[in-house]
Amino acid sequence: MYSDFETISTYYDDLYVNDEEYAPEAAKVKELLTRHGLPPRGDLLLLACGTGGHVPYFRDEYRVFGLDLSEDMLARARAKFPGLAFYGGNLIDFELERDFDAVICLYGSIGFVRTVENLRASMRRIAAHLRPGGLTLITPWSTEEDFSEMIVVDAADKPELKIARMEQVRLKEPKVIEVIFHHLIGKDNDVTYHKQAMEIGLFSREEYRSSMIDAGLDVVEEYRGADVRGGAYIGKRISV
Ligand SMILES: C[S@@+](CC[C@H](N)C(=O)[O-])C[C@H]1O[C@@H](n2cnc3c(N)ncnc32)[C@H](O)[C@@H]1O
Repeated sequence: MYSDFETISTYYDDLYVNDEEYAPEAAKVKELLTRHGLPPRGDLLLLACGTGGHVPYFRDEYRVFGLDLSEDMLARARAKFPGLAFYGGNLIDFELERDFDAVICLYGSIGFVRTVENLRASMRRIAAHLRPGGLTLITPWSTEEDFSEMIVVDAADKPELKIARMEQVRLKEPKVIEVIFHHLIGKDNDVTYHKQAMEIGLFSREEYRSSMIDAGLDVVEEYRGADVRGGAYIGKRISV
């Protein structure tokens, strides 16, 4: 069973999901998708939806669905949004036996597929779930052209939960980023330390473009604004 997010899921919303980043990001994504033809009330699949952090920003205008590999993350999404369908599945081989007007993957989650081969397989699965003229929008974690090593520092400070986090982001080997999460978690008058490493694929801009094209998608825009974390590749399924 996939367990990378087992511990992090417990405090994912406290650490990562916030209105300051999610609201402008979702607003821009909506604007981009609308500009490229997403109809109002269209069916929108959030891939690697995690705890459903983006759901509140889309659910009033679209019929929202989610998919994720982690049962821990999905359990939190389902508890928060009981009326919505959240599917268990892997980006690289999911099969939902239905299609959508848009299939999007935010916050760099596509990087978790790790290899270019898996990126290309994921794009094929996305294209297979799009109606003719349907849209995909993918935000890379980073690209080979843009990547730089860094240390991220942040904190959550609530009366019942305090977390200090640092993330070491480094190039582990060509085309593989390693993120080492260091979390000091203060809860119930105790402080625990959690350390976890995750690997994320680092793909070139051309690999994002060609994986879409080879899956039967037109690359209709490459967006680089800072309001969408990682920027966005937008593909449209060629109508036949
Ligand atoms: C950084 S979280 C982002 C969650 C959400 N998109 C957000 O912005 O809050 C990455 C998510 O990708 C999911 N994930 C990782 N590998 C996956 C895969 N191969 N297929 C589907 N989901 C995957 C994880 O379970 C996790 O929920």
